[in-house]
Amino acid sequence: MKALFAYYTGTGNTLRALEKVAEGLEASGWEAEWLEIRAGGPSLGSALQCLRENDLLVLGFPALGFSAPRPVLRALRSLPGLPGLRAAVLCACGATAAKGRVVNGWSGTAVPEALRILVRKGAVPVGSVEASYPENWTQVSPPEDEAARAAMTSLGDGQAREFGVRLAAALAGGGTDSPGLPAGSVRRGPVSRALGPLLARGFRTFGRRLLARLFVADGSCTSCGLCARTCPSAAIRMTGARPAWTTACSGCNRCINLCPERAIQTSYARLVLVLGLNVAALFLSGPAARALLETASGRGGRSGGIGAFAAGLALYLGFSLLQAGPLDAVLRALERSGAFGSLFSRGFTQRFGRYRAPGFQPGRNVRDVP
Ligand SMILES: Cc1cc2nc3c(=O)[nH]c(=O)nc-3n(C[C@H](O)[C@H](O)[C@H](O)COP(=O)(O)O)c2cc1C
Repeated sequence: MKALFAYYTGTGNTLRALEKVAEGLEASGWEAEWLEIRAGGPSLGSALQCLRENDLLVLGFPALGFSAPRPVLRALRSLPGLPGLRAAVLCACGATAAKGRVVNGWSGTAVPEALRILVRKGAVPVGSVEASYPENWTQVSPPEDEAARAAMTSLGDGQAREFGVRLAAALAGGGTDSPGLPAGSVRRGPVSRALGPLLARGFRTFGRRLLARLFVADGSCTSCGLCARTCPSAAIRMTGARPAWTTACSGCNRCINLCPERAIQTSYARLVLVLGLNVAALFLSGPAARALLETASGRGGRSGGIGAFAAGLALYLGFSLLQAGPLDAVLRALERSGAFGSLFSRGFTQRFGRYRAPGFQPGRNVRDVP
């Protein structure tokens, strides 16, 4: 029987976790196949066509803003029906270290949402798990020191390995799990169920786009283009021999972590300008829309209700478009100018180390990873 391991990864944790799951399945006679879900890569739909009855899909991805990455959700939504396909889901989370203890990450709504889409397509869920590995959000906080990273990697490896063994046993209809029962399942309490979808939607709609605007390549960039070539969301364009981040960014932090020169930073100037402009636009869109409606209707009176809300939203969306296009082009031009270049390329991440899972090299065959 065949297991298709389909994964999205920023810095290799998800891939590493799936390799641990594969070990458990392979020990029980399963044959593993691998597919990286990335923009412009082979489609998940065609890879799934090679599976037969009783085969298995194991889907893996990191939690990004309590959500599955956008390319994963898009790949799932575009699938045809999957009647009877057995599917397991693994989410790599970001562990934290608190008072000498390693604390598990929290994937919010990521796993339930992915499972819901799979079930809607007719798949049969056979298990799900969160595996906590080192946090890779270098854009906002420095990676943990080596000892903490080793402890976290060992925690995630253990969780993934155990899941693989339980999955193999459950699928064989014996072992530690009762036949037919999912081999582990991610459960959510009522607060998580209420808040998770909101936070996830907020990250996918606004958060990842805002974060993409904060990236800048500093003077040590050699224009090698590695960031653009290996971005799993194809969100980086080389313009004027420097990378520029588009709104397709998923926020996976592969670029900042893998740049060989550590040239990618969170720009102070962008942080102030982009956040400042967005907060101002958010607060001013409502009053500006009301004033416009009042002027248009020729009344001196107050204008409110759904019309004003829709107009405010339209104004904010207009600002977002402006921000993605002309405003961003102005910022990039300033960054390249002699006068402002160094101001824009300065960022607090210059002091940070970088993170990648041990041995991870994007683009290399999965079996090359030690
Ligand atoms: C933008 C961003 C958002 C993140 N959000 C979460 C989160 O909601 N929950 C969590 O546990 N970890 C979160 N993390 C941490 C990653 O999910 C974690 O480090 C994961 O193991 C990375 O896997 P990868 O190396 O396969 O990309 C986030 C990381 C980034 C860069």
